[in-house]
Amino acid sequence: MSSTVYVPRDAGALSLGAGEVAQAISREASARGLELRLVRNGSRGAYWLEPLVEVATAGGRLAYGPVMPADVPGLYAADFLNGGQHPLALGPTDSIPWLASQQRLTFARVGVVDPTSVADYVIHGGYQGLRRALSLGLEAIVQAVSDSGLRGRGGAAFPTGIKWKTVLEQRAAQKYVTCNADEGDSGTFSDRMVMEGDPLSLVEGMTIAGIAVGATQGYIYLRAEYPHAYRSLNHAIAAAYQARYLGADVMGSGKRFDLEVRLGAGAYICGEETSMLESLEGKRGEVRVRPPLPAIKGLFGQPTIVNNVITLATVPTILHQGAEFYKNFGMGKSRGTLPVQLAGNIKRGGLVERAFGLSLRELLYDYGGGSASGRPIRAVQVGGPLGAYVPASQFDTAVDYEALAGIGAMLGHGGIVVFDDTVDMARMARYAMEFCAVESCGKCTPCRIGSTRGVEVIDRILDGVESERNVQLLEDLCETMLQGSLCGLGGMTPFPVQSALKHFREDFRARTRH
Ligand SMILES: Cc1cc2nc3c(=O)[nH]c(=O)nc-3n(C[C@H](O)[C@H](O)[C@H](O)COP(=O)(O)O)c2cc1C
Ligand code: SF4
Repeated sequence: MSSTVYVPRDAGALSLGAGEVAQAISREASARGLELRLVRNGSRGAYWLEPLVEVATAGGRLAYGPVMPADVPGLYAADFLNGGQHPLALGPTDSIPWLASQQRLTFARVGVVDPTSVADYVIHGGYQGLRRALSLGLEAIVQAVSDSGLRGRGGAAFPTGIKWKTVLEQRAAQKYVTCNADEGDSGTFSDRMVMEGDPLSLVEGMTIAGIAVGATQGYIYLRAEYPHAYRSLNHAIAAAYQARYLGADVMGSGKRFDLEVRLGAGAYICGEETSMLESLEGKRGEVRVRPPLPAIKGLFGQPTIVNNVITLATVPTILHQGAEFYKNFGMGKSRGTLPVQLAGNIKRGGLVERAFGLSLRELLYDYGGGSASGRPIRAVQVGGPLGAYVPASQFDTAVDYEALAGIGAMLGHGGIVVFDDTVDMARMARYAMEFCAVESCGKCTPCRIGSTRGVEVIDRILDGVESERNVQLLEDLCETMLQGSLCGLGGMTPFPVQSALKHFREDFRARTRH
């Protein structure tokens, strides 16, 4: 009898040796004359357990991890294919407390399905959302997305339904759906995990968006640094065409939707939506002045939806399970769930999808297990390189767009990077300015010049040159960048700097430079 074993092909798991483990499992099965079906799934997101090997048994999937190639003969000897006991045995995957306590809606299939199989996707509830969408009028699809309370997960948290409605209302011969898969924020990987582990959910979400607003062409703007996602997306798109979920006659509806992947140009600013559109058009990634909004005049001057991967991959669940179902998760104006990514100096890093409303402390300690170094956590940066540093005294703040804004922080794309008490916050502030100087598209002065001056001013503070006056100058400069920049790169770089000044002022003192 053939056994089914799952070993992730997720880039994170591969970096920890999942490829070698998969080879060792196949080799050992051949040597023992055993029949094996090896499925290369996505990661479950518990990266400290990767490579996580799962075995399908009559009683459900059983997990073993972290597995090294050298462990493989021992696993066979322990009869792991039949759930045998072994020091690496973790029991039923669904009962691992870290996973069992999550509320996975967008990530429900990630790590579960075979990302290369349309049939497996359908068995696990795939394409139910598109089926329902095709039974509704265009306005009703957009209304469902509005009613769900879904806000963009790329960073700005703009209501998705309003964006779609604007595109729907435009009269144009051609409209587009574009997916922002540039995922440039530090410590973020949820887009990548979906694209590698459940790419068809993004394909389905984009198809629903196209049908909803009358767009027949979609583009996924994928960062070139994601070769595994590139392969899995292209595979999923080809499979969807073959099964007629894409193309001239989507699910026999007579409606067309075509989809392609375009590789990014390797600049952080290409994640800003108007730069992304420029880059998609084959130009230098430079910010466009708004208005007009992309929803009115976007790609090639046509009405265009720009949404993040997670936003679009969540849409099938909303259409399938209903707006009310989705809206019942969350708090205040933050409805549904958020896939939070725990990274940096954290013991149990990975992806946690929970309804909005749990605290940073719960994420950092209940899920993350505290710092990897075992030292006290001093600060976390929430929302990528432009996010504020949150001190330990504010860890009871809820993961909620408004609650974080209330303490001068932002949730962004849901990435949390952890620092212990050895961090030098003045250096982190300097890094924020330096990052902006390197990544600035150069279109506006506060960002292009301001960021370079910011680095110089911080250097003077650290050199002990007129420290008080230079701290004042740094504060003024932050205010100028905040008020005068054309886009969020220059406009939000002050957040990490101001928060470091506010909460960790003691670090802005002269020290020996290396
Ligand atoms: C400097 C900068 C970088 C950005 N990078 C990304 C990115 O990598 N991915 C993303 O989805 N949104 C990014 N955004 C936000 C996008 O401009 C835009 O708000 C988002 O793609 C819209 O999709 P959503 O409504 O689904 O979030 C960035 C914004 C700025 C200012
Ligand atoms: S803020 Fe920076 S990145 Fe944005 S438009 Fe101005 S120069 Fe370009």
